[in-house]
Amino acid sequence: MDPVYLDHNATTPLRRDVLEAMLPYLAIGAGNPSSLHAWGRRGRQAVEQARAAVARLLGCLPSEIVFTAGGTEADNLAIKGLAGLAGQRRRIVTTAIEHPAVLGPCRALARRGYQIVHVPVDGDGVVDPDDVARAVDGDTLLISVMHANNETGVIQPVAAVGAVAWEHGIPLHVDAVQSVGKIPVQVDDLGVDLLALSAHKIGGPQGVGALYVRQGMAFESLLHGGGQEQNCRAGTENVAGIVGLGRAAELVLAEWGQAQSEWRRLRDRLEVDVRRAVAGVDVNGGAAARLPNTSSLSFAGVDSAALVASLDRSGIAAASGSACAAEDPAPSHVLLAMGLGPERATSAVRFSLGPGNHAAQIDHLVAQLPAWVAHLRRRGH
Ligand SMILES: Cc1ncc(COP(=O)(O)O)c(C=O)c1O
Repeated sequence: MDPVYLDHNATTPLRRDVLEAMLPYLAIGAGNPSSLHAWGRRGRQAVEQARAAVARLLGCLPSEIVFTAGGTEADNLAIKGLAGLAGQRRRIVTTAIEHPAVLGPCRALARRGYQIVHVPVDGDGVVDPDDVARAVDGDTLLISVMHANNETGVIQPVAAVGAVAWEHGIPLHVDAVQSVGKIPVQVDDLGVDLLALSAHKIGGPQGVGALYVRQGMAFESLLHGGGQEQNCRAGTENVAGIVGLGRAAELVLAEWGQAQSEWRRLRDRLEVDVRRAVAGVDVNGGAAARLPNTSSLSFAGVDSAALVASLDRSGIAAASGSACAAEDPAPSHVLLAMGLGPERATSAVRFSLGPGNHAAQIDHLVAQLPAWVAHLRRRGH
């Protein structure tokens, strides 16, 4: 059996079509998009074509897209950039299950005197929009709620939170890094003002992302220098990377529906078959609406890092917690926030599917798992 990659929420392999679209800009280079000669114009044209593709994917105007060096930068730009211009307001309402790309900038702002409110989630990992409404006050400068959780795949009621934000006249930022490409993400349907995405979660290159900024929203740039990206993000554009993001966005749109239903079919098969083959397995967030490709399974009495290492020996890539926190032995803050307890949180393994996965790979996983789980349970973890 060839290696089985079930860690697409950490990163997706670069798609061949995307690589081919990028190659000319890597091989012979693009001009600097700010240059006025033919080389520069080619670079500019490539960047603007990619901007239009990302805008089509999100249902917004090309002028509302700011390219960044990834999802983390897009989240930081939204949160710190807005706080920089928010005047006297000092409160940010977010959730207990955000990715470190959101928790980190919030923590940095807390050190500067901002008040960060983390709205709880229920046992399935879902935020209640009424809790968000109760948490906002006249001092609130931003609401930030992720669209889908990276560990569990649980989808948040963002449109309802958008209605709360609208009612109170507070901007809404959404980390859509995991939802883009897996479920529909249309900025107007969600009622968002700022939305972050990342190329490497949709078959594009690592180190490229984008922030949607609703027309008319003002915020402070994190990087100061040239006037690129409408003065929102200084620095010469990563032309090849941006071309890759644009091509990945085009592919998502062109293939919409087919891929997502295949992932769902495989994911459901994975959950049914694993639970049939191994006793003591719980699906985290299983009763909530989830991304079609994600499954977080807790294996009672098993340490998740040890199981991930064991599966790796069988050529299967999965994740314990999120990739960003994989070296952190602390139990997942997401699962703890769901009230699942340390035992269940430290025994959770995430399987996330993507292009190229097929039924025989799921069968291989199901065949390998029982022996590894039994071995680790005998060893006491
Ligand atoms: C929900 C979420 N937000 C943000 C990020 C960060 O994106 P990037 O890796 O492009 O910085 C990730 C990556 O794992 C993510 O899952």
